[in-house]
Amino acid sequence: MPASPIARIRTLLRKRGVLGTAARVAQVLWRRVVPRRVPPHPFDLEHGVETGGLLMARNIRSGHAHDAQSTAYYGTQPSVFRAAIARWIEDISAAGQNVREFTFVDIGCGKGRVLMLASNHPFRRVLGIELSPSLVQRARENLGRWTARPHPCDCIEVIESDVLDFALPDGPLLLYLYHPFEAELFGQWVHFLAAQLAARATTVYVLYLNPYHQKMLRALPCAQHLWSDVFAFDPQESAARQLSDAATPVALYRLTPTDQPRMPSTGADGQ
Ligand SMILES: C[S@@+](CC[C@H](N)C(=O)[O-])C[C@H]1O[C@@H](n2cnc3c(N)ncnc32)[C@H](O)[C@@H]1O
Repeated sequence: MPASPIARIRTLLRKRGVLGTAARVAQVLWRRVVPRRVPPHPFDLEHGVETGGLLMARNIRSGHAHDAQSTAYYGTQPSVFRAAIARWIEDISAAGQNVREFTFVDIGCGKGRVLMLASNHPFRRVLGIELSPSLVQRARENLGRWTARPHPCDCIEVIESDVLDFALPDGPLLLYLYHPFEAELFGQWVHFLAAQLAARATTVYVLYLNPYHQKMLRALPCAQHLWSDVFAFDPQESAARQLSDAATPVALYRLTPTDQPRMPSTGADGQ
């Protein structure tokens, strides 16, 4: 998921100087006139679904005031998902827990690619919430095709909702976010999350990709940062990507209700 244009230009200026930045901006503008031909995503070819592309926030509006905080639609690369989820499974196994106990929630599920990938694991339920009605429709069409075959989790649902209207389900949770919204809404969501945690008995994990606003999460007294890592794309996925990224930074947090004992952190510190 891209950062805002101003943030990207600042980063470019820092890394490449004025001339390098001008060359890159010219290249981007040229690509708008003569778009690069991007092959269909290998995940879509393999499964007969449509989860590819980069849709800017202006093209996926819902009419909700939070449209202004939305980043864009851009699907997680399956290789990144698989690497991150494998690492999370190691963590919960070490803590004596099992995937079967958990509900997986993709906050801003877009076209549902991650829901399909998550259903390859035996989660209790797989839920996606999404603000944009057109993406909800696409996700439901994709899942209609996906669920024609059985998967380890067949309890998959897409809910059309703003993130602040979605009450967390009971039981152990894995919340998944791929940089869905900007700082202002992220901060509100962190407060909303903290208020719901106070009434819970079970731990919530947050797997956050492109974790631009993780400082707000880390500031919660109940949050433990477990690890940060960067997972590279599979080469076939790289050929079908819309942006110039080739890897995704990922951070995992564990939020423990305050009356439960906290476990020691396992990994290195992140961004
Ligand atoms: C970068 S995409 C990630 C899609 C999917 N999670 C994945 O990783 O493949 C972010 C998604 O968050 C959704 N989103 C943005 N703001 C939201 C909000 N306030 N409530 C729910 N979804 C939102 C966007 O419409 C978009 O589909």
